[in-house]
Amino acid sequence: MLPTIEWTNDAIVMIDQRKLPASEIYVSCKTAQEVAKAIKTMVIRGAPAIGVAAAMGIALGMRRSKATGTKQFATEFQKLCDLMAATRPTAVNLFWAIEQVKRVFAEAAQGGCSVDEIKQRLEAEARRIHDADVASCRAMGAFGADLVPQDARILTHCNAGALATAGSGTALGVIRAAAGQGKNVVVLADETRPFLQGARLTAWELVKDGIDTTVITDNMAASMMRLGNVDLVVVGADRIAANGDVANKIGTYGVAVLAKEHEIPFYVAAPLSTIDLNTTDGSKIPIEERSDREVTHVGPNRLTPEGAHIRNPAFDVTPAKYVTAIITERGIARPPFHESLAALVSGQQAVGSGQWAVVSEEL
Ligand code: MRU
Repeated sequence: MLPTIEWTNDAIVMIDQRKLPASEIYVSCKTAQEVAKAIKTMVIRGAPAIGVAAAMGIALGMRRSKATGTKQFATEFQKLCDLMAATRPTAVNLFWAIEQVKRVFAEAAQGGCSVDEIKQRLEAEARRIHDADVASCRAMGAFGADLVPQDARILTHCNAGALATAGSGTALGVIRAAAGQGKNVVVLADETRPFLQGARLTAWELVKDGIDTTVITDNMAASMMRLGNVDLVVVGADRIAANGDVANKIGTYGVAVLAKEHEIPFYVAAPLSTIDLNTTDGSKIPIEERSDREVTHVGPNRLTPEGAHIRNPAFDVTPAKYVTAIITERGIARPPFHESLAALVSGQQAVGSGQWAVVSEEL
């Protein structure tokens, strides 16, 4: 697996996901502003990956600060946090990561650290967020693989893989772990209009890994399910509300409704940083509207006539009633989600049907 994002000496380096699979080009961001632009323009995308990028971008920007006093340094820090927060609204991992670096900043400043010491702590925190995501993917994969039968035809939507995280992916982490256990896994990848994350990114990743992958257009999923070609669905998430409603790439809701109709399990794999207990239900999740051009064009080619109105909501919300289970790095949450998610977030794990115990180990 190629690294999606890496902190080299003086830059944050990312593979340019807009160019895949045609070219494998790396973008070097030397300022926080360049990192913010890379998130906004989807050089890097996927909820956990943009959280990592934001934390690294803030730490990089602060490393370059010329401020000598902590007051000026704190003003610049707040500006960079605001800059990152304005890049994309839906994935809560972005705001979670900003909160992590803010906490580190506040603790260091209150502890009397110098500007140089705060710089070092911010960089260490960004690296910690990166490494924790790698570990989360691994743990989610292990929990999720247990849900995958020995022979499994798995449908996924968008890209919830290595390209969307610092590790092996959330949904694709589960698929990779199942394949790694010797299960016979074949994947149906929804192409995922309009940005084509499934056709371009999921297929690219899985083919590189030697996992049997078939790309279908989004409107083929219904028929594939009806014909009995899908055993389970696993997708990622950008934000999961306290009641288990799931915001994910536009089109996920349709897949979930279809899965229920055909009695196919619909799983969501996401780290705890995607769970937003402050948002009571999916109706409160902000949905990003992206540029018309993603819909009107494929590459340089125009598809739609001038004058037609365009809508481009980048995400939709799948109500909790369509979700069979949510796979996290701490275990699997099942309905009722308002109980199981709260228990997992507070450090407990399932020990039996409807029973919870405190987890002792640090994840
Ligand atoms: O607009 P994107 O490509 O950032 O949307 C990404 C998704 O919807 C993913 O499914 C989600 O972020 C989970 S990634 C592990």
